[in-house]
Amino acid sequence: METPFSHPDRNLALELVRATEAAAIRAMPYVGRGDKNAADGAAVDAMRKFLGTVNFQGTIVIGEGEKDNAPMLFNGEVVGNGYGPECDIAVDPIDGTSLTAAGRGNAISMLAVSDRGSMLDASTVFYMEKLVSNADGVGVLDLGQSLTDNIRELAKAKGKPVSEIRVAILDRPRHADAIEEIRTAGAHTRLILDGDVAAGINAARSDSRIDMSYGVGGSPEGVATTCAIKALDGFIQGRLMPKSDEERTNGAAAGLKFDYVYSADELVSSDNTFFVATGVTDGDLVRGVRRDGAWLRTESIIFRARSGTVRRVSSDYLASRWLSE
Ligand code: FBP
Repeated sequence: METPFSHPDRNLALELVRATEAAAIRAMPYVGRGDKNAADGAAVDAMRKFLGTVNFQGTIVIGEGEKDNAPMLFNGEVVGNGYGPECDIAVDPIDGTSLTAAGRGNAISMLAVSDRGSMLDASTVFYMEKLVSNADGVGVLDLGQSLTDNIRELAKAKGKPVSEIRVAILDRPRHADAIEEIRTAGAHTRLILDGDVAAGINAARSDSRIDMSYGVGGSPEGVATTCAIKALDGFIQGRLMPKSDEERTNGAAAGLKFDYVYSADELVSSDNTFFVATGVTDGDLVRGVRRDGAWLRTESIIFRARSGTVRRVSSDYLASRWLSE
C-alpha cells in the first residue's frame, strides 16, 4: 500500500508558513491600536511579499477585503514564484481584524491551498451558514436538520450527554434564535466575537473544548476552514446566505447554488489541501506574536490533508531585523 511514509514528498505548507508568520509579525505593532485597516494593510503587504518567494503558481480564488473595502490580496491575483504546482489559494492575512485592533484574543493570519480549480469560488456571496465538528459528525450532522437534532446526534456519536456539548457561535444578533436553541437543548455556547475559522478548526480537533462550530460567517472563511478540516478527517457543511438580491443574482451567474447544502468535497473538491495559521493575538488554536527582549516569537499550526499531518511551528525572529523598516 502506498502511504505518505513509503512515498514522502514536499510539504508546501512548510514554505507557506513564512508568509503567515511575516503577516502576523508586521501586524503586531497594530495590536490594540484601534486601526484595523492599518493592521490588515501591514499583514497583506507582508503576506504578498513572502508568497512571492514560494515555489508554486498560486491563483487567489478567495481574497479577503471586499466586504469592508479593506486592503486586499485580490481575487484572481497570481502569487508565487511562477514555478511548481498550480494551486488555488484562499488568504486571510488577518482573520479577526477587529480583534487585532481592539487587542483581543483569537486573531490569526491564515492561508489555505488546494489543487488548481478545486476551491468553490464563493466570492460573490459574503455569508455562509457553516456546521463543523470532528469525525464523529460524519454521517450524523446535517445542516438540513434542526440544530437541536444536530446537537443530540453529535452527543450520541461522541458518547456523552448533551450537557457536555459546547457549541462555538459568533455573538451576533442574527444568531439570537440559534443561541437560544443551543441552550434550550441543554448544550453550552462558546460565544465568539470574531474569527470563525479558528473556532471551526477547534471544533474538529481532539484536544479542544469545542465540540461543534455553527453559524453564519464569511463564505471565504468557510472554504478556507474546509482545507484544514480535510486534514483532520472532520466534518464541515456550508450553505450560502445571500444578503441581497444583487448577491443572489451575481452568485447565480457564477454558478452558485442557494438553499443548498455544500459538502466538504463540494466546498473544496481536492483532497490535496494545506492550511497554515499563525497567531496574531493569543487564542485557543495558537498563541499570538510575543516579544521577549530582542526577539519575537511566533506560533503557527500547519495542516496537510494528503499526509494527515498537523505541525506546530514555533519561530524566533530578531525584532531589529523584522520590525525596523
Ligand atoms: P475579518 O477579520 O476578516 O473581518 O473577519 C472576521 C470574521 O469574524 C470572520 O471570522 C467571520 O467569518 C466573519 O468576520 C463574520 O462576519 P461579520 O463580522 O459580518 O458577522
